[in-house]
Amino acid sequence: MNVRMTWLPSGVVTRTRAQTTVLVAARQGRIVIPSRCAGKASCLLCLVDACTPETLTDPTPAEHRLLGDAVLAQGRRLACQARVIADTTIALRPSRLHETIARLLQRRSDVHDD
Ligand code: FES
Repeated sequence: MNVRMTWLPSGVVTRTRAQTTVLVAARQGRIVIPSRCAGKASCLLCLVDACTPETLTDPTPAEHRLLGDAVLAQGRRLACQARVIADTTIALRPSRLHETIARLLQRRSDVHDD
């Protein structure tokens, strides 16, 4: 069964097979989710926000250990652990690089406004 994945903030829609991890589905759809541990649940770089958590498999023991119940309750998941079971929406978190660039551009804009 194929499922539809909507990626925020871009709104790009991709498709993948049910039971695919969010990380693999992202790669299939050319969506960039950082990863340094090759999906072994140790780098935490693949953290995403599940907008519809019920459309993903339950958190794995590794996610419970690494993220804790409070973070999981906010809908945050490790893309390398969470598997898609129905049409879903995933919000990507801004990378530190993107945040740094946005901050520099804002600073530059502030200087030109003065
Ligand atoms: S890819 Fe490293 S924790 Fe998910």
